[in-house]
Amino acid sequence: MIEGWQAPKVTGAFFMDKEKIMERALALARRGAGRVSPNPMVGAVIFKGATIISEGYHHYFGGDHAELDALKKAGKRAEGASMAVNLEPCSHSGKTPPCVESIVRYGIKEVLAGGRDPNPLVAGKGFAYLRRHGVRVQSGIMKEACAFLNRAFISVHSRKRPWVVLKEGLSLDGRIASYTGNSKWITNPKARLFAHRLRYESDMVMAGAGTFRKDRPSLLPYLIKAARHPLGYPARCVVSKSGLFKTCGKLVDSESPFFIAHIAVKRPASAENSKSGHERIYSKNLNNLLEFFAEKGYNQILIEGGGGLAGSLFDAGLVDEIYFIYAPIVIGGKNAVAAVAGRGQELVKNAVVFSENRIFALDDNFVFHGIRTTGKRKKGTSLGKRGRP
Ligand SMILES: NC(=O)c1ccc[n+]([C@@H]2O[C@H](COP(=O)([O-])OP(=O)(O)OC[C@H]3O[C@@H](n4cnc5c(N)ncnc54)[C@H](OP(=O)(O)O)[C@@H]3O)[C@@H](O)[C@H]2O)c1
Repeated sequence: MIEGWQAPKVTGAFFMDKEKIMERALALARRGAGRVSPNPMVGAVIFKGATIISEGYHHYFGGDHAELDALKKAGKRAEGASMAVNLEPCSHSGKTPPCVESIVRYGIKEVLAGGRDPNPLVAGKGFAYLRRHGVRVQSGIMKEACAFLNRAFISVHSRKRPWVVLKEGLSLDGRIASYTGNSKWITNPKARLFAHRLRYESDMVMAGAGTFRKDRPSLLPYLIKAARHPLGYPARCVVSKSGLFKTCGKLVDSESPFFIAHIAVKRPASAENSKSGHERIYSKNLNNLLEFFAEKGYNQILIEGGGGLAGSLFDAGLVDEIYFIYAPIVIGGKNAVAAVAGRGQELVKNAVVFSENRIFALDDNFVFHGIRTTGKRKKGTSLGKRGRP
């Protein structure tokens, strides 16, 4: 502190830290995780000076958007106030009327936004509408954090494919099952609950046919109470090349759409309904399959193994984010199932790199969470460019 210097008193309309208020909007937005897709997660805060008037968020797909949720709570107090919102307000009518019209009607004078909506139906039109109607707009507040929250939504609009998250439960020696195929249980109960949370926050859970033949997993987030929502559980998909796969009643009778994807067949990507309740999809490769799911509104796909499917996805450059949950055990055995099979890289310098990494503990298990970087590794470091869409 400089001697004799006193911080100026900041009062009234002048004072509201833009980043703090956007952090609040982001925290509200996150509450919609698992319920709003294929829409983005959005939170909104209405404030005047240093006073927060109201807060809102998009609770579930088809419900009020965050802006309207906050405006309804503010009522007349919204007149002349500012709004912070993590994504450009929409300018088109979908299940709800355009948010920009409500913002103008309620008399908001300023909008602070995280960034532009990549959806071509909005893409700058929302900001343009607001400016035309005399609302001041400042975009790009905490731009990276806002884009990161909605990375799956952005992926579908910018890359035309879902955001792919791979979760595996591993031993310290990188095995996901023993040489007999036994994998129950590698991780601890807290880790399994965490995995169910990931399922719940995804639009689809996918696994390879090998896992289905061996374990018949339900892939449903049944440990998460909130998942028992009218909108239902995430969809499931099993991927197979041979087609030698039999569904069992437990999988197809239950509460969410079930797909069987046949890859590498000569027929173009197409779907047909089967009498036994699942949908069969024929696709040339995994890339086409993912594009097909993006068109159907599946923004985020969680891959739950096994090593064969994980390897295929890595080889095709289709893994965006990983959660590797390590248990403090060694399984051993050269024929034990590897976490990532496929062709793999010939040289270590070409290995897939993750950044923005964090490691956290779940009791005695620890989780490596990373986002795939794009581009080559930099010399002397394991990092490349950030892997955001
Ligand atoms: N610890 C964990 O987190 C975890 C998670 C899941 C599974 N597991 C364990 O892992 C073992 C199974 O793993 P796995 O590696 O043997 O099998 P997997 O990855 O579940 O399945 C491999 C099969 O998936 C299909 N497949 C994979 N890539 C494909 C592609 N690009 N195109 C078409 N089809 C493709 C093929 O099916 P077809 O053979 O039908 O052609 C392939 O044989 C089991 O023992 C299971 O218990 C552990």
